[in-house]
Amino acid sequence: MGATKAYVITGPTSGIGYATALELAKYGTVVLAGRNLQKLNRVQKTIEGKGQKAVSVVCDISDIKSVRNAAQQIIALGLPIVGVLNNAGIMPVKAGKSAQGWDLTFATNHLGAFALTEALSGHLPNGANVVFITSAIEDPERKPAKVMGMRGGRYISAEASARGEWEEGGSKMGGIDAYATSKQCILAAAMFLARENTRLHFNAVEPGITRGTSLGGESTNAAVRFIFDQLMSIIPPFSRYSSTPEKSAKVIAKVLVDETGQTGVYFDEKGRPMQGSDLSRDPAFQSRVVAETRALLEKV
Ligand SMILES: NC(=O)c1ccc[n+]([C@@H]2O[C@H](COP(=O)([O-])OP(=O)(O)OC[C@H]3O[C@@H](n4cnc5c(N)ncnc54)[C@H](OP(=O)(O)O)[C@@H]3O)[C@@H](O)[C@H]2O)c1
Repeated sequence: MGATKAYVITGPTSGIGYATALELAKYGTVVLAGRNLQKLNRVQKTIEGKGQKAVSVVCDISDIKSVRNAAQQIIALGLPIVGVLNNAGIMPVKAGKSAQGWDLTFATNHLGAFALTEALSGHLPNGANVVFITSAIEDPERKPAKVMGMRGGRYISAEASARGEWEEGGSKMGGIDAYATSKQCILAAAMFLARENTRLHFNAVEPGITRGTSLGGESTNAAVRFIFDQLMSIIPPFSRYSSTPEKSAKVIAKVLVDETGQTGVYFDEKGRPMQGSDLSRDPAFQSRVVAETRALLEKV
């Protein structure tokens, strides 16, 4: 251990990302990539206060130009980056637009994470670990998600997702089709990259129903938040998948510092291999998502 290695993490200012940044700091320098410099500086100070190392880089992951700019800054740091964690994510009820005019949820959770990975990949050493935080609600057959009226990923095409259009028959809950589709796409892309680029290792983690984060926070009232934060950890079928940012951080950091060469694995909240939706495991779907995503990103 020590600061001979470096790890990049997006969204380190809250929830799972914050806990994981603190965990990763035990293994090396942490490059904190987030949209709010003040918040980044606070996390950096916390890490430095423990005698560990961190650097802050401003990056709005929903804005492809900001992502590419941040990637250049990260590369220019000249750090020995052995891990990249694509953690930043949103789940808003109301649809929004990114700087490129694309659906904000799809841009943040899928396009930005994919663009950052593409921009950094060629600069990473052999065997570096790239990890994507996904969500099991991409799977229409996932029991707790089904119980809540979620219908899984609703992908039509990358262009359609960017316009905020989802396959019919989706969830009645606002923002859920966008969220599930974005997470299905990034999971499928992770599995594609693991096949395409054997020089690096690409894995995904479903962190579990993690209470005490800010995800979807702006959309929920106090009663809903109480249910999500407290009751879901004890009521089946949710309790089985319950986690905390600190527990998730341990699982995620373990995948990021792994040196056994595992790639193309999707881990659950306890760090056990799990299966994504049928679609996310379909190589033809994975290839289509990546080809369409690359075509869309070429426009920027
Ligand atoms: N909580 C769960 O139950 C759960 C379950 C499955 C998957 N996940 C996934 O886990 C990841 C972390 O979520 P969380 O629950 O820890 O949520 P959170 O507390 O809301 O943290 C989200 C992080 O993403 C950052 N972020 C959001 N939009 C960004 C943007 N445009 N550019 C840069 N950074 C941005 C936030 O930055 P600010 O501080 O600036 O807002 C924050 O650091 C997400 O990908 C989420 O989808 C969570």
